[in-house]
Amino acid sequence: MQYTERVSRLESEGAFVVLAKAKQMEAEGKSVIHLQIGEPDFDTPRNISDAAVKAIYDGQTHYAPSGGIPAAREVAAEYMAKTRNIKLDWENVIIMPGCKPLIFCAMIALINDGDEIIVPNPGYPTYRSVTKFLGAKPVPIKLREENDFRFRLDEFEQLITPKTRMVILNSPENPTGGILTWEDLEGIYALAKKHDLWILSDEIYSRIIYDVDFKSISSLPGAMERTIAIDGLSKTFAMTGWRLGFAAMPKKLAEYMFTLAINNFSSTATFTQYALIEALTGPQDAIDDMVLQFRRRRDVIVEGLNSLEGVSCLKPEGAFYVFPNITGTGLKSKEFADVMLEKAGVACLSGTAFGEYGEGYVRFSYANSVENIKEGISRIKKALAEVGKVKA
Ligand SMILES: Cc1ncc(COP(=O)(O)O)c(C=O)c1O
Repeated sequence: MQYTERVSRLESEGAFVVLAKAKQMEAEGKSVIHLQIGEPDFDTPRNISDAAVKAIYDGQTHYAPSGGIPAAREVAAEYMAKTRNIKLDWENVIIMPGCKPLIFCAMIALINDGDEIIVPNPGYPTYRSVTKFLGAKPVPIKLREENDFRFRLDEFEQLITPKTRMVILNSPENPTGGILTWEDLEGIYALAKKHDLWILSDEIYSRIIYDVDFKSISSLPGAMERTIAIDGLSKTFAMTGWRLGFAAMPKKLAEYMFTLAINNFSSTATFTQYALIEALTGPQDAIDDMVLQFRRRRDVIVEGLNSLEGVSCLKPEGAFYVFPNITGTGLKSKEFADVMLEKAGVACLSGTAFGEYGEGYVRFSYANSVENIKEGISRIKKALAEVGKVKA
């Protein structure tokens, strides 16, 4: 049987591949500490689950309008407007089953064959994969450790050609935890405007942020003409399995997104959208508490990693990942991740799972207990000592 050449251009995601391997090891009776997973280990706050259960019993179990139920679109629009300090109508906002379909559909609507798309590297693999799927060329912009894993504006400008169609931003960033400053965003927007580029701003970690305030490029005057700002419930509200995301965009794009939804999945589940309304309008203390716990875990993992020979780690100000430099261990990134899983029973991801500029780094997620993080660090220490002996 024949498959399309197009579908072969899609890439898998390192996190899911490592998860499968780790599960296999666990099935064989081995102990694995999961520091590879990009999802909060907390339960969804009870008031949010209750709202969905109530909606089911109230009969909200039929198809919904393809862009989301009006009340949920209204609430999501108010939330985006308030948190980004922008003016939005509900028609500017689309709800889909997660940020991923929003990214996918927006890219389908905005990218032509042969376009060039500037993607952060190391960066979330979906951006590069979907760009290639659509017959466009991903142009990596290197996020450098010495620049706190932020864009360098001069490098960004050099990468822009007449074929450049879109720049993708992700701040706070997966996998580095890096955050773009207000000055960065102003500079990026000025260049996007000058060269007439779309800006896809993936802001899924907007609420998981420490010491600094969240800034969105959409807040800049005029930016919403060319920006799609994407947020969702997966990370902030510990709701990865619910599949709920929302995005603000120009109305014309929202109409296309609506049609893409009709042709693809018809609608986001109806009763979960009542949970979205509760999440965005109900009490927020559970979220504040989760962020506090993430901050403590970040401090523990950064200190632990910096205590290892050959490893150095910046202290990120957002998301729940660290991206330590492991070049001093003498191991390549993939080798490091493989050794840690096989020898130490610690699952992490090779930096190269996020693009070629991830070489020399690995990604740890600290969405795990302090106890497990400490155990993970001590296992890594032991494994590094053994690998060192083998190498010597
Ligand atoms: C940067 C980034 N964007 C999007 C997603 C996917 O989000 P969702 O669960 O809402 O589809 C993730 C999940 O890991 C992510 O890290």
